[in-house]
Amino acid sequence: MSDFKPLVFSGVQPTGNLHLGNYLGAIRKFVALQQDHDCIYCVVDLHAITAQLVHQDLRGQTRSIAAAFIASGIDPEKHIVFNQSAVPQHAELAWVFNCVARIGWMERMTQFKDKSGGKNAEQTSLGLLAYPSLMAADILVYRATHVPVGDDQKQHLELARDIAQKFNIDFTDHIRKTSYGVDIMVGEEPVHAYFPMVEPLIGGPAPRVMSLRDGTKKMSKSDASDLSRINLMDDAETISKKIRKAKTDPDALPSEVEGLKGRPEADNLVGIYAALSDKTKQEVLGEFGGQQFSVFKPALVDLAVEVLAPISGEMRRLMDDTTHIDAILRKGAEKARARADLTMNQVREIVGFLQ
Ligand code: TYM
Repeated sequence: MSDFKPLVFSGVQPTGNLHLGNYLGAIRKFVALQQDHDCIYCVVDLHAITAQLVHQDLRGQTRSIAAAFIASGIDPEKHIVFNQSAVPQHAELAWVFNCVARIGWMERMTQFKDKSGGKNAEQTSLGLLAYPSLMAADILVYRATHVPVGDDQKQHLELARDIAQKFNIDFTDHIRKTSYGVDIMVGEEPVHAYFPMVEPLIGGPAPRVMSLRDGTKKMSKSDASDLSRINLMDDAETISKKIRKAKTDPDALPSEVEGLKGRPEADNLVGIYAALSDKTKQEVLGEFGGQQFSVFKPALVDLAVEVLAPISGEMRRLMDDTTHIDAILRKGAEKARARADLTMNQVREIVGFLQ
């Protein structure tokens, strides 16, 4: 039985400033995965216009995400870094997927419900509803197999699997007439598939970094309070102020992970420390169990500054040289386009478009 070649794909939207959640939930994992995987990392500018159509500086935002990838340690020579709109095959495959996916699947997405929440259909773009179908196309236009993301994207990736599976089933006879199919197991069932069942990579100690002001809410670009998040571009003083002001409870840190149950703020800060130091939460508690936040918080400030300051410094340097960033993105897009074109030619043949 053959199988799909492992390939990592992920994307980040160029909307607002990147924060610690984006870094720990996604970008830091991108960096680790490139050691032993073929990786494609994309600035998803087509996604950026789904919730808000007109942006002041979409190009600048796109460059800043690319700069964050590179400053964090992604190697654009060995891997592929590009912006989505430069590879039109994403949108082309998304159209096919719009016809594979069902409206009900899209309407059930929590993020769609949150973002369109309360507003009537006249105020929500069709793009926002169809967003997960474009996300599935982003991944599957490379037939990528592994997708590192934060926990908030889990539902979208399940939907990508549903779309892949429905395409494979709907077109099974057509796929068999080509040599492009791959025999895979889906659960106990052998399936002759064109698209792989993508695997989300969500684990680690901080798959969902929470707000510093409320441990039950996700850290997010859209939170009105800047104190709720650490931005990748915050300076040492700001990072220190935000961590010092972070909400906590009055108790000392527990010595065991079970002791974090029912203490969302403590759990969040320990998770952040663990992710920033590549340790487990238990290892962090082994070091800090029994200590007060007055001891733990300064240690967390030092660690956060130690990890983030070189990244923001390098991002600033890269952002001053837009010609260099643009050249990286252009070269990445060329490589991506060649791969995406291969898939789209096969998809056109499978679907039956006259070429
Ligand atoms: P986006 O741009 O909202 O976020 C980028 C990445 O950051 C993760 N993330 C978090 N992780 C942990 N804690 C948090 N508080 C937190 N906030 C954000 C997200 O999970 C994500 O991994 N739809 C995607 C972009 C996308 C994509 C794709 C991802 C488009 N196409 C294909 C993977 C594959 C999004 O809006 O992410």
